[in-house]
Amino acid sequence: MPLPTQWGVFDVRAFEVASGHVYLALVHGDVRGQSGVLTRVHSECLTGDTLGSLRCDCGIQLRVALRAVTAQERGVLIYATGHEARGIGLLNKLRAYAKQDDGFDTLEANLALGLPVDARSYDDAASVLTSLGVLSVALLTNNPHKVRGLRDGGVDVVSVQPLPTAPHTRNLHYLRTKQRRLGHVEPTGAIVADGPADPAPPAVAIDTSSLMGDVHTHTDRPYVVVKFAQTVDGRIATATGDAKWISGEAERRISHGLRAACDAVLVGVGTVIQDDPQLTVRMVAGASPIRVVLDSTLRIPSTAKILEAEAPTRVVTTSRSPSVRREELQRRGVHVEIAKEGPRGVDLDAALASLRAAGVETLLVEGGAEVITSMLAGGVVDRIIVGVAPTIIGQGTEAVGPLGTATIAEGIHLVDRVVHVLDDDVLLAWNVQPHVG
Ligand SMILES: NC(=O)c1ccc[n+]([C@@H]2O[C@H](COP(=O)([O-])OP(=O)(O)OC[C@H]3O[C@@H](n4cnc5c(N)ncnc54)[C@H](OP(=O)(O)O)[C@@H]3O)[C@@H](O)[C@H]2O)c1
Repeated sequence: MPLPTQWGVFDVRAFEVASGHVYLALVHGDVRGQSGVLTRVHSECLTGDTLGSLRCDCGIQLRVALRAVTAQERGVLIYATGHEARGIGLLNKLRAYAKQDDGFDTLEANLALGLPVDARSYDDAASVLTSLGVLSVALLTNNPHKVRGLRDGGVDVVSVQPLPTAPHTRNLHYLRTKQRRLGHVEPTGAIVADGPADPAPPAVAIDTSSLMGDVHTHTDRPYVVVKFAQTVDGRIATATGDAKWISGEAERRISHGLRAACDAVLVGVGTVIQDDPQLTVRMVAGASPIRVVLDSTLRIPSTAKILEAEAPTRVVTTSRSPSVRREELQRRGVHVEIAKEGPRGVDLDAALASLRAAGVETLLVEGGAEVITSMLAGGVVDRIIVGVAPTIIGQGTEAVGPLGTATIAEGIHLVDRVVHVLDDDVLLAWNVQPHVG
């Protein structure tokens, strides 16, 4: 029967398979008697697929696969129920998560619980493909065991297409473990690469972990990464406020990868008014972070794209903002936080503490100048990433305003440099040396 979805209409068929589970086949186009049918055998993952968990890559893979299938003339996605958590089930998955939080990796956690590392069989998926009359498949997977399992079940796998996702700091270790210990093929996508534009289509997933640095959690605030793009002469916008686009496409794609790596992304209301950014993840396969705006009097325009429903939004304001505007935002599903006032608007420590209390462990600060300056002046920045673009514009907005620095020695010092060259842009990242004194 037809199942209309946001990716298009599938012909959905249910199969009661030998293991006793009900599998769904979402069929796009005519697959009977066809060879090389783009196929995804997706293992059920309630937490990732349905609830958007960031502990795994399942939900993103599911969405990317559905999109890929409908982009072709024909294809099929088999939703394998009973495959939850590599077949150990939902309850055991949560038990394994508790073990992982104690330092076990995803394999060790299962073994410590007396469970198999992978209990899945692909025989049922193979028989569904046979019932659908598919002659051979181009399989979307990073998992060599899935390829082998389907082949053992009689499926003719003619090619394998990887399904990488941009890693989140919360699933990076898990994805690396799958790569290192289970042989998955580059599940995090390509590591940020140097050099000229690749003639191949741009990567759908980029591993930005070298830029993110050694992410460590704080108890009173998130791990803060400040990222901006500047011209060679140190401007993040022209004198009229224009900043679109200082950097090239490859560099902007990295910014999307950085967003996908973080729990939240933050800007000041000045950037919202000037640039009207969405701050979602669109250029890579990853989840959009929570968007945060510092706005002491709620100057944010009602039409701002950041208020739209694609991703959650939190606005941190003060008691100076009109209650009618707060209520308007809340009615639209925006979280409004009232923090105490600080010298530059919202008190930064209070804003960061409330984010941490809400579970935000990693925060990407994307500007603008006043917020970057506040963060640096407040000594709350762990990492700085600067894209330097091959443009000179003269007078304009400087990334960082006055910090009261009289001597070079008093400056904020950056260590452990990382450099990437992306087309004509240079991307630099450092740890901020903690102030001693
Ligand atoms: N090239 C890049 O990477 C990049 C990135 C982002 C932005 N930009 C550019 O930067 C310019 C915007 O810079 P901006 O400095 O006007 O905007 P901003 O830093 O995004 O916003 C500043 C405003 O945020 C509010 N705020 C609340 N609490 C604050 C706090 N603790 N510290 C600092 N600000 C706080 C203040 O307004 P209230 O007093 O009303 O609360 C303040 O005026 C635009 O031209 C934009 O294009 C460039």
